[in-house]
Amino acid sequence: MAAVRALGFDRGRLWAIDQRALPDRLIIRRFARVREVADAIRSMAIRGAPSIGVAGAYGMALASREGRWTVAAARRLLLATRPTAVDLAVGVDRVARAWRDGDDPLSAADAYRAEIVDACRRIGRHGAPLLRRVERVLTHCNAGALATVEWGTALAPIRLAHTERPELFVWVDETRPLLQGARLTAWELARERIPHAVIADNAAGYFMRRGEVDAVIVGADRIARNGDTANKIGTYEKAVVARENGVPFYVAAPWSTFDARRATGDAIPVEERSPEELLRWGTRRAAPRSSSARNPAFDITPGHLVTAFVTPDGVYRPRDLARALARRERRPQKSG
Ligand code: MRU
Repeated sequence: MAAVRALGFDRGRLWAIDQRALPDRLIIRRFARVREVADAIRSMAIRGAPSIGVAGAYGMALASREGRWTVAAARRLLLATRPTAVDLAVGVDRVARAWRDGDDPLSAADAYRAEIVDACRRIGRHGAPLLRRVERVLTHCNAGALATVEWGTALAPIRLAHTERPELFVWVDETRPLLQGARLTAWELARERIPHAVIADNAAGYFMRRGEVDAVIVGADRIARNGDTANKIGTYEKAVVARENGVPFYVAAPWSTFDARRATGDAIPVEERSPEELLRWGTRRAAPRSSSARNPAFDITPGHLVTAFVTPDGVYRPRDLARALARRERRPQKSG
């Protein structure tokens, strides 16, 4: 089966798989205006840090063609959609710069997309050897092609390792409340016949304690200089339980997800979404009408709980991360 491609640009419009409809229906939506792109990101039709960065880049390119947006207004609109993933600002700002400098915004967005796809391919190459002796790997949320345009971050090493060892098995956390694991990660793995099982979010500890998880690998939405990592709510708990059980915990991300300006995770803005996402169970209510709820979309995993970061340029221990980021600051390179 052909590899998944989450979004692209064709005949003057951004197209994207509507991730809200999966796994039941594969719907492609097309966007001709920046406001439509902003709505798609806000409603999570397009989601996952690198994917919203690329969508944001194309949103800016569309705004530049609409003729009624300033660079600043289009940028503000897009950045107001979701606060946690720094990739969004990286993609938007790449095209904002081109637009301000009189370069072609669409070419800048195309180049950004290509960088992200290439970065994920390289993450796969560097991450696959970490899974060489792993029989069962656990992942949380969706850090696959849907979240990154192609390949994935956490799923890229898994995809590559699977081609060498088809028996590699993946535990898929369901990822309440929007079920990115059960709906999206399982959909990607099923298409490629990668053996997997969906588990309730709160079952991960059970399987780790039984010795049925050999490694955990997740993506990220923003990583501070000290390695503190914002990722889907529930990631922190997985990291704590992994440490308790001696299971390695890897975070895979392109450079666009690292935010060297934030010293620690305390400075990372965490999106809190509508309580309704939690209070509904499909079409039914999951709690009494009078109940309230809190719905943080992300949590922060302290850097010291991360065994290693898998990047497009290699694998870094948390203690080496700040130096690697400083090196990149001195010699600015591609964001992917
Ligand atoms: O709220 P979402 O579904 O956009 O959250 C996505 C995640 O938390 C992913 O793990 C993260 O963006 C990494 S994607 C490669």
